[in-house]
Amino acid sequence: MLRAWILSLLLAGCGGGAQKFNGVDITGANYARDFVLTDHTGTKRTLSDFRGKIVTIFFGFTQCPDVCPTTLADMAQVKKQLGKQGDQLQVLFITVDPERDTPAVLARYVPGFDPSFVALHGSPEQTAATAKEFKVFYQKVAGKTATSYSIDHTAGTYVIDREGRVRLFVRHGEGVEPIVADLKRLLS
Ligand code: NI
Repeated sequence: MLRAWILSLLLAGCGGGAQKFNGVDITGANYARDFVLTDHTGTKRTLSDFRGKIVTIFFGFTQCPDVCPTTLADMAQVKKQLGKQGDQLQVLFITVDPERDTPAVLARYVPGFDPSFVALHGSPEQTAATAKEFKVFYQKVAGKTATSYSIDHTAGTYVIDREGRVRLFVRHGEGVEPIVADLKRLLS
């Protein structure tokens, strides 16, 4: 018994050292596995198209006043801070507003943060199915007119490793440096 207790103390003491991420480690999750959507150039895309790169996936909408542009701007900084390794990062933005965020609208918005960023669009049904697979919540909030609605949505970012497995969920507002550190760890 005493030996088992000492062993458990030892494990508790050094177990976390090997792979400690700033984001929430969701390795092995049975969700956030794949999508079938169309990118802002009109090409059909699935997650496996990006195999070999670290992929970050964020759900939002282009008329979002705050969280979405902040996240995209942060990810542009992350890519810059990765330096040469930035080539191994693919940032994906999935719209939860397929009615207003047409591929043309997405093409004007998302690559403006970084030319390599890819925006993804689906039918309302595809969007709902993708959000469900990624456990992402989104809901329209009525505005003054029928087209001036806002959308409440989950604000975190998923990180997929180079083998296409979901690894991390990064909460909104984490900051650039912790994400850079996590991505470097996944790339090493
Ligand atoms: Ni937003």
